[in-house]
Amino acid sequence: MSGIRVHAPAKVNLILRVLDRRTDGYHNLWSLMQTVGLEDELHIQLQPETTGVCLRCDDPTLPTDGRNLVARAASVVLERAGLSVGLDIRIVKRIPVSAGLGGGSSDAAATIVGLNRLLCLGWSAPEMAHVGQVLGSDVPFFFFAPTAQVRARGEDVVPMRLIGERWIVLLNPGFPIQTQWAYDRLAATRSGMTALSQGITRLAGKTQVDWDEVLPLMENDFEAALAPTHHVLEKMKRALISQGAQVALVSGSGATVFGVFPYEESAVQARDGLKRQHGWWASAIRAGSSSLGSHETFPLNCLQVG
Ligand code: C5P
Repeated sequence: MSGIRVHAPAKVNLILRVLDRRTDGYHNLWSLMQTVGLEDELHIQLQPETTGVCLRCDDPTLPTDGRNLVARAASVVLERAGLSVGLDIRIVKRIPVSAGLGGGSSDAAATIVGLNRLLCLGWSAPEMAHVGQVLGSDVPFFFFAPTAQVRARGEDVVPMRLIGERWIVLLNPGFPIQTQWAYDRLAATRSGMTALSQGITRLAGKTQVDWDEVLPLMENDFEAALAPTHHVLEKMKRALISQGAQVALVSGSGATVFGVFPYEESAVQARDGLKRQHGWWASAIRAGSSSLGSHETFPLNCLQVG
């Protein structure tokens, strides 16, 4: 096997509660995360004759040096596996950047999955999540997608089955929000922390849940923190509801807002209407995704390296 293609899905937070600040500076979280059918694509090619990671991306605004999470993920994997081999990695970017959709984290997770296969490392999902957690708090989730409860800093992930089918409309206003800035803003603007609702506590004890049970529980603590500085978020939420969304919510630390729709036709109609009316970037996709496991390899035998 000398090359592999891996799909890296975006995520939305159906629930995102930011709890207490920890001694390491991060916050404890309680989140219900869900992948959606908007995907980046990674093409990883082994170059056994060389060393180092050569990264290319079709989005010129993204750095392709050591700052890129994909390059960092590749280095971490090679170091842990004790291998020295050249890698050629090409990213096809479709997920908006710094948008609350976990695109960079998913790309990093996809790199680990791809290299695990390509280099025949035999790591389990928990092992890959352990490797990935140093790269970012959202990374471990992607090894347990499509749906999972995520706790602590992001490393405590419990997969869940979400029953039923829904369509998601993503809206993005076209500017990034830096995660750290949003956390600082949240810490500075709220006077205290409220406990988890009874509904969320009940949900936390389950291994499967129906969409109809989740919809009334959807909330995101960043909404109140971002509302005074980013009025457009509330405008996008109202626009989604007026187009028939059952619930509309900010994803992660923004600035993407998503709406949950019962049918594909209503989601597509809302996407087209909102794009036309407001000029926002918009996408209508299915909730859930082909998991990170969906990849193609070529040719099929494992190559001995290192
Ligand atoms: O882990 P990640 O690099 O995505 O985190 C970016 C920033 O978000 C951190 O530097 C921290 O300020 C904040 N964060 C946090 N608590 C978390 C996750 C992120 O405070 N659980």
